[in-house]
Amino acid sequence: MKIAILPGDGIGTEIVAEAVRVLNVLDLQFETETALVGGAAYEAHGHPLPESTLNLARSADAILFGAVGDWKYDQLERALRPEQAILGLRKHLGLFANLRPALCYEQLTQASSLKPELVAGLDILIIRELTGDIYFGQPRGRRIATDGHFPGAEEAFDTMRYSRPEIERIAHVTFQAARKRSKKVTSVDKANVLETFQFWKDVVTEVHAQYPDVELQHMYVDNAAMQLVKAPKAFDVIVTGNMFGDILSDEAAMLTGSIGMLPSASLDRANKGLYEPSHGSAPDIAGQGVANPLATILSAAMMLRYSLNQPAAADRIESAVKAVLTAGLRTPDIWSAGTHKVGTREMGDAVLAAVTGKTITTKS
Ligand code: IPM
Ligand code: MG
Repeated sequence: MKIAILPGDGIGTEIVAEAVRVLNVLDLQFETETALVGGAAYEAHGHPLPESTLNLARSADAILFGAVGDWKYDQLERALRPEQAILGLRKHLGLFANLRPALCYEQLTQASSLKPELVAGLDILIIRELTGDIYFGQPRGRRIATDGHFPGAEEAFDTMRYSRPEIERIAHVTFQAARKRSKKVTSVDKANVLETFQFWKDVVTEVHAQYPDVELQHMYVDNAAMQLVKAPKAFDVIVTGNMFGDILSDEAAMLTGSIGMLPSASLDRANKGLYEPSHGSAPDIAGQGVANPLATILSAAMMLRYSLNQPAAADRIESAVKAVLTAGLRTPDIWSAGTHKVGTREMGDAVLAAVTGKTITTKS
C-alpha cells in the first residue's frame, strides 16, 4: 500500500504532519511519499499540480491531502492558482463522490453556534458530486455580449451541466451509503428554476426505484439551507451537485462547532480516494501552531476505512479523538470556558498517546 502525502499550503503542512505521526504509530504496512501541491508547488515548479505530483497521486492507493490556497496568489491567472491543484486532482483521478460527514461530538455541543439541543447527536452525511456541474462545465469565459440585458457589454459566463451517467453514479453511491445508515436520503436541487436540476431530480428518482427500502425526499437548495439551521437532525444523508454541495457542506460543518473537526473523502468508482479536511489552508493562522489537526487525523481514519480496508485501525483513531475531547483538550477553534487550550502539536501528541492506549491527562 502506498499513500501519497500532499500537505499543500498554509496550515496544511502542520496538520498533515500530525496525521502522519498518528498513522505511523499504528504499525500498519504502508509506504508514504510526499510531494508539493498548490502554492508551494507553484513556487518550486511553476505549477500548482506538477506532473510529478499528479503521477504520484495516480500511482498511490490513497492520497492524504492538507489544504491549498493563499490570498497572495489571487492575482495569478486562474490555471496557476493553488485551487486548481485540488480541482485538477478531482478531475484527473475521477474522484466524483465527495463524502462529508457532519458529526457533532457530544463534548463540543457548546462550541456550535446553534443551541445545544438542536445539534446534540447530530450525524449527517453530505454526499457532494465533485467532478461535474458549473465547476467543470464548458464553455466558460469572458466575451462581449451579443444579447441579454446589455448587448455590447463585457460579460462572463459559466455552464451548469450534468449528464445522466454522472447523476446515476452519485445516486447509487448515495443510496448504498444510506443503506448503512438510517436509510433516509434528501436530494437537494433547484428544479423549480434550473433545467439541470430538474434533470437531476428526475434521474435520482429513477435510480431510487432500485432502492425501495430507502426513503427519498427532494428539497430545494434554499429551503435545505434554511432547514439545516432550523432542524439539522431531521437530515440523515444529503446528496447534491457540486456547487450546492460546496455551500451546504460548509454550513453543515459549522453546526458541529468547528469546521476544524470535519474530515472528507473523495472517491472514484473503485473506492480509491483522496482524503482531506473539509476546511481550507487558513493562511491567517499558518505557522503559529494553533490549527486544529483533528479533521486531518479523522480524514486519515476515513482513508483507512474506505480505501485501505483497515476498519479496526480507523476505529482506533476515531476513539482516540473522542478520548482527547473527553479529556478536555481543545485547539482555539473549539475552545470554551473550562476546557484546556492546546496547540496543533500538543493535540497530535494527545491523539498519539490515546491511540497507543495511554490515559490522557491535561497539564493544567
Ligand atoms: C472545497 C473547497 C474547494 C471547492 C476550493 C478550494 C476549490 O471550497 O473543497 O469545498 O470549492 O470545492
Ligand atoms: Mg468549499
